[in-house]
Amino acid sequence: MDLQDSAQDITERTAEIVSRNAQLEGPLLPILHDVHHAFGCVPDAAIQPIADGLNLSRAEVHGVVSFYHDFRKSPAGRHTLKLCRAEACQSVGGDRLAEDVMQALGINWHETTPDGRITLEPVYCLGLCSCAPAAMMDDTLHGRLDAASVKDIVAEASR
Ligand code: FES
Repeated sequence: MDLQDSAQDITERTAEIVSRNAQLEGPLLPILHDVHHAFGCVPDAAIQPIADGLNLSRAEVHGVVSFYHDFRKSPAGRHTLKLCRAEACQSVGGDRLAEDVMQALGINWHETTPDGRITLEPVYCLGLCSCAPAAMMDDTLHGRLDAASVKDIVAEASR
């Protein structure tokens, strides 16, 4: 989402997306995907035109957006760090690593650092279990991590 995307702009573009998809059976998810694709998130200003177009309440639309973690409410940062939360990584200190990373970045899951650099997301197995704990920075996998190596990965991505 661009800073120039005004609420009016979002409303109009969302209304177009709604009218393009309204005839589908079960149109809400396709509409949310298209809105997410258009703005990089489902902004607040998109909720009302979706609700109006599908004859739903704001709460119903909001409930679906909240249920699916893939729908962001604000745009992701320039880089996305996905930390594995699945069992093999948990068994070798994944929880502790996640706490350390969240503390170092000053954010929680699904949040973005205030400078817009890093978004932190959980992921459930990256297929790198033998090198746990594992993470993925953008499209690159990393294994056998500790707080220091994650810090290096974040610093590298930020250059
Ligand atoms: S459990 Fe973490 S990579 Fe498989």
